[in-house]
Amino acid sequence: MQKVDDKDITQILEWFADSGVQDISSERSIVQKNSEKEIKTLAELKEVMRNVDISIKACALNMVFGVGNEHADILLLGEAPGAEEDKQGIPFVGQSGQLLDKILAAVGLDRTKVYITNILPWRPPGNRTPTLQEITMFRPYVIKHISLVNPKIVVCLGGTASKALLQTTQTMTQLRGKWAKVEELSASILPTFHPAYLLRSPSQKREAWVDFLTVKNRMQG
Ligand code: URA
Repeated sequence: MQKVDDKDITQILEWFADSGVQDISSERSIVQKNSEKEIKTLAELKEVMRNVDISIKACALNMVFGVGNEHADILLLGEAPGAEEDKQGIPFVGQSGQLLDKILAAVGLDRTKVYITNILPWRPPGNRTPTLQEITMFRPYVIKHISLVNPKIVVCLGGTASKALLQTTQTMTQLRGKWAKVEELSASILPTFHPAYLLRSPSQKREAWVDFLTVKNRMQG
């Protein structure tokens, strides 16, 4: 094993501090819990996630787990619940969700044919973007979640989901519409725009539609 000296440790700790991470003990315990207890079903995963010790839980009304077809070939991965999702406990039921339904319908898909989940299952206070610490904590659960559904394709909705899953700092301009892989998953991954972004920038809807058509064609071909 590679030796880590004091200087390396100082640099690693500085990197964590710069990223806003103050306490890495909670992440370590979660990864340990995951490897100790083999999670075999979505119901088990939901229970384990419900018990995760994370501060955003205290501000949220409901945990928002995945929904849809648990055997779907296509899984849509969003960022985190918004206010309406928090109220109802269901992903993508607010304005973004309504646009997502329209995009799905435009390529002959609907919620019975896909599975939908998010990087974070709780709404971050004030709808802020998930922190690096929260993403790092939840990525192992996201990987487990996707593995249990076992889709052929994962569509990442927006920069947060794309960067978190692909573990990259590349921009959406660089990532969008390009197939990618991660070593933990057999699925092919396609980053596209988040519906909330499309509500703000409607001229980009065509690109998102092209991405979903690409997904549909890959499934058919
Ligand atoms: N935005 C997301 O990323 N996910 C939701 O569930 C709702 C809005």
